[in-house]
Amino acid sequence: MSQNSLNEKIIIGIESSCDETGIGVLKGNRILSNIISSQEDIHSLYGGVVPELASRAHVSRIDNLLHKALEKSKCKIEDIDYIGVTSEPGLKGSLLVGVSFAVGLAYSLKKDLYKVNHLHAHIAANYLNEDIEFPAIAFVVSGGHTSLFFLKDYTEFSLIGRTLDDACGEAFDKVGRMLNLGFPGGPKIEKEAEKGDENKIKFPVAILSKDSLDFSFSGLKTAVLYYIKENGLKNIPDICASFQKTVGDILCIKIKKAISKFPVKSFLLGGGVIQNNYLRKRIKEIFKDEKIKLFIPPKDLCIDNGAMVAILTKFLIKKGIPPSDLRIEVKPTK
Ligand code: KG4
Ligand code: ZN
Repeated sequence: MSQNSLNEKIIIGIESSCDETGIGVLKGNRILSNIISSQEDIHSLYGGVVPELASRAHVSRIDNLLHKALEKSKCKIEDIDYIGVTSEPGLKGSLLVGVSFAVGLAYSLKKDLYKVNHLHAHIAANYLNEDIEFPAIAFVVSGGHTSLFFLKDYTEFSLIGRTLDDACGEAFDKVGRMLNLGFPGGPKIEKEAEKGDENKIKFPVAILSKDSLDFSFSGLKTAVLYYIKENGLKNIPDICASFQKTVGDILCIKIKKAISKFPVKSFLLGGGVIQNNYLRKRIKEIFKDEKIKLFIPPKDLCIDNGAMVAILTKFLIKKGIPPSDLRIEVKPTK
């Protein structure tokens, strides 16, 4: 298909891998709508995502969300040309809701369906920017993952580093819970940290072996727990600032190591934790004197959303990758 005709196509992206239901509508390089229904209110009562409640909430919301997304984009259901959906990795029940919905839609509209990887979609949140040059490294920092990828082009991803235990966002959420800040912990820790002294408490920076691009956050999480056991909850802003600084140190050390190991032209960020202003600033500093171009998605494309799924779908079509079969199959997080 020519580039021009693909730019006229309406692609919808469906996301339901965890606790956000998202539907985005894309036409060419323009996001016509990107509606997200968060389940924060449901899961905050339990201090974390409850998988059964997540899938039920997706079921009750997804249909209405599609109508809202189409309405906002001034499209009708018959205008849809392609459908993209997250099919891996994530919570099994949650993924099944999005994939079943997408398969039903593809059957009834007789349109091609693309099942996509959630982490690749987080990276594709950058792809509306036409200045990206390859090869590139991409770094997804979210509630479920802390993963570094080498990208030969827009659709060829090789994993070069990952967390061996907790994900970075998971560490934010667990520390948030220890400090009684509520769920999700990330934004709350960021806010408390603004009032604190980041050099007040020394937490351990786990770098594993000298050459490793893998991560470990469980030692840091435990160090915060022991600090609270010994000192109580007297200075929450200092704990948050010192924890956040340590996370920043870990991410920056690994980013520097990755770009020294792989000569790349671009570095792409993605995932919910990348909404954090302090971490965005720390990472930007690394690239100030580098020839490598840094790309950071706007905050509404960092969280789980449907538009990033639609964008990745567009690049898969452009590459000539055949559509997926219409079986209702998912690959959940192990
Ligand atoms: O990408 P995402 O929406 O969902 C997953 O794919 O996991 O990321 C959610 C994660 C949560 O762990 C949340 O605490 C974290 O992103 N997060 C943040 C911030 N906002 C969200 N972490 C640090 N600072 C933030 N401002
Ligand atoms: Zn995500």
